[in-house]
Amino acid sequence: MTPDFIQLHHGDDQALAAEAATGLRAPAAHVSPKFFYDALGSRLFDAITETAEYYPTRTEAAIMATHGAAMGQAARGVTGPEPALVDLGAGNCAKASRLFPLLQPGRYVAVDISVEFLRQSLQCLQREHPQMPMAGVGLDFSAELALPQGLTTGPAVVFYPGSSIGNFNPAEALRLLSQARSVANGGALLIGVDLVKPVDVLEAAYDDALGITAAFNLNLLNHLNRLLGADFQLREWRHLAVFNAAESRIEMHLEARRSLTVRWPGAERRFAAGERIHTENSYKWTPEAFEVLLRRAGFTQTEAWTDARGWFGVWLAWG
Ligand code: AVI
Repeated sequence: MTPDFIQLHHGDDQALAAEAATGLRAPAAHVSPKFFYDALGSRLFDAITETAEYYPTRTEAAIMATHGAAMGQAARGVTGPEPALVDLGAGNCAKASRLFPLLQPGRYVAVDISVEFLRQSLQCLQREHPQMPMAGVGLDFSAELALPQGLTTGPAVVFYPGSSIGNFNPAEALRLLSQARSVANGGALLIGVDLVKPVDVLEAAYDDALGITAAFNLNLLNHLNRLLGADFQLREWRHLAVFNAAESRIEMHLEARRSLTVRWPGAERRFAAGERIHTENSYKWTPEAFEVLLRRAGFTQTEAWTDARGWFGVWLAWG
């Protein structure tokens, strides 16, 4: 078999530039975290996951390694044999492929913003599983998660690992979870969630000693320079990561080291010394609050697995 590829999202640099410019000129300047992920930003993110301080990736992997068989069994108890596996933000498809022996899916649907990211990894995975029908879908599911008719039939397992749900505010997260429930079509959602924990652990995870997260944050300015034709000087900005307890989220900001003006064709923005650009929120949930969110999204049943420290949770939700 060979994978099918469908591109539903068409990136438009002009629209992206306009969106970034609007955020930069807002009274409280802000830029979406999607601007982190140019080619270098994606590699810096991979490097972050290997730092000593960034616990989410390895903690989730350990939970999956310990409890994956139980998760697969519980999921198949909901869906029946050979469910479709829908992988949100699939990237290199590595996390989902570790689920194959546990879940024994009948079909694999990898979803990511660009089908080009998926092409190589899916072709590789297809060689390892020649009999499994596979599809790659290019879709910006942060805007809306809906799959073309006929891509899955019957109950599916929607897999959303990596605690990326934390990069949505609670209202957006609720919407995405409701849409994931529709895509599961009577099946289940398997989702990784980063949990509330001591502030020093959280802040270190977003400000590692090697400075990789700082580089990841600052690289956003390189991306804006290319996209907008702006003249950000990276040395004039400082990376900040702070836990906002009232909102239960890590916030990343870039702070101007001195008063300065950034210019791009047709516009400019003055920043006072110490003024910030808000670049990311990463919400941290308590298990209780996340359960409530799942129920508000329509799920009636849940089972969760966590690590010994209770730092990260993986939920199976259905009903
Ligand atoms: C992709 N996302 C789950 C990461 C997070 O932890 O919120 C992005 C990240 N930002 C800084 N470090 C990692």
